[in-house]
Amino acid sequence: MDICTVKTEPFSDQICGTSGLRKKVSVFKQKNYLENFVQSLFNSLDGFEGKALVIGGDGRYFNARAIQSIIRIAVANQFGRLIIGQNGILSTPAASHLIVKREAFGGIILSASHNPGGANGDFGIKFDTAQGAPAPQSLTDKISEKSKTIDHYWTCDMPNIDLSVIGEQTIGSTVIEIVDSIDDYAEYMQTIFDFDVIRGLFKKGFKMSYNAMNAVTGPYAKRIFEDLLGADSGTVINATPLPDFGGLHPEPNLTYAKTFVDMMYQDNAPDFGAASDGDGDRYMILGHRFFTSPADSLAIIAEYMDTIPFYQGRVYGVARSMPTANAVDYVAQAKNMPVYATPTGWKFFSSLLETHKIALCGEESFGTGSFHLSEKDGIWAVLCWLYIIATTGKSVQELNEELWQKYGRVYNSTQNYEGLEIEPTKEMLLSLEKRLPALVGETFNGLTVTQTGLFNYTDPVTGEEATRQGYMICFDNARIFLRLSGTGSSGATLRVYYMKRETQAENMKQNAVDYLQSLADVAVEILHLEKYTGRNKPDVIT
Ligand code: G1P
Ligand code: ZN
Repeated sequence: MDICTVKTEPFSDQICGTSGLRKKVSVFKQKNYLENFVQSLFNSLDGFEGKALVIGGDGRYFNARAIQSIIRIAVANQFGRLIIGQNGILSTPAASHLIVKREAFGGIILSASHNPGGANGDFGIKFDTAQGAPAPQSLTDKISEKSKTIDHYWTCDMPNIDLSVIGEQTIGSTVIEIVDSIDDYAEYMQTIFDFDVIRGLFKKGFKMSYNAMNAVTGPYAKRIFEDLLGADSGTVINATPLPDFGGLHPEPNLTYAKTFVDMMYQDNAPDFGAASDGDGDRYMILGHRFFTSPADSLAIIAEYMDTIPFYQGRVYGVARSMPTANAVDYVAQAKNMPVYATPTGWKFFSSLLETHKIALCGEESFGTGSFHLSEKDGIWAVLCWLYIIATTGKSVQELNEELWQKYGRVYNSTQNYEGLEIEPTKEMLLSLEKRLPALVGETFNGLTVTQTGLFNYTDPVTGEEATRQGYMICFDNARIFLRLSGTGSSGATLRVYYMKRETQAENMKQNAVDYLQSLADVAVEILHLEKYTGRNKPDVIT
């Protein structure tokens, strides 16, 4: 095995977004593109020689090929051990757990999460630290910086590694270890939840459907729900990870999982439905004819978290991303817990989780997690729900309605305008920014603006600043929040987040999108959306 130096030219677009580097597969396929980024990553890290690196991905197109390149570069850069999921598969939460369990230096996760896959879809790469946490901004900035001047990378001359065979082999001074992708994660879940309690629920005939969306969670869900918890065989559907996710959009929401949602609204539907995204960190919870909003799911888990023995006495506080509706704030207030509102991106929760300022956190984009891992964790969230249902005997709908009656219902929804032209969209937001102060006191559709501003954040632990994280327009009991997506691979995606709190019991059972329509109309008006973008209807509503 020879180590070789390959001369290369920098690419100008290797800039990490909300969650690592995400681009079209065609971009990643350019000669040296992936290699440049991986070497720039290693050039940004210190002291990894001889240490372990975890590698795995969500099985999307280009996953296997990328792993072979990464193995060569990691061997050439003198990592001591590469721990790779069998067939290159590791869900994001499983990778995060493996990093911590095996005391690795960090891990490389290959995924573009909820973005479509296949040869014409997206690919992505992100780095998790030794804590199994997404790389902090300071590190992703450094990688992007290094990528601008890189002129060579190291690789080695070696045959492809057979990723299907579990076991170890040594190449040069690096041990390459292929591990079962599921074992460690499934074992860990059994230390958090009493599986007997959940098994009891299925024994009583409780029916569930879990849609793995042809993405990474299929094998995890089959092992955990069917084999270990005794759910009927066939509970997990779309269970085989496919390179193109079977043409499905691997994002569990009301738009992209519509067929599944419709199934849950039929007469003979199961009691409980859940779905996950491409890399397994997001989830959706449905009851029979009932959709749980991610913000309500977070609040319900917060309400019951201390009934899960693993968390008893350890529910230190909660956090939500700022765009997430604030249902959980009312639970936290009642339980006398601190609540934090962070910028979008899981990395902003890491310091709060690590220092036990919080036990639980979540995002409006269907991600929830706890200090059990430093990544969000879809299957863990589903297990929380199953445990709560098993111990309370309440249905998904009853748990939601109980929350609303106790704290008021915070209606919420997100509207996404995708594929917008970048320049006019930026101009629109700049114009809004200038007008923000003058909006206070103005009335739109009967709603008077009480407060406006840009969202700037200082991490309470590290002191790091994150400025310009979104635009806030507040009304009495209602809020519009706007920001541009940082995970798209083309054009601009504008996300408009709405929430409005309702305390009258008779108004709590409306359709959220209908209930929020007047607020949505206000956003279109205030933004002059049509003038700048030519659009007046969102592409995706969640
Ligand atoms: C999106 C979500 C955000 C999440 C991120 C990674 O980012 O909105 O909550 O953390 O994906 O899963 P965005 O595209 O909005 O930047
Ligand atoms: Zn994801």
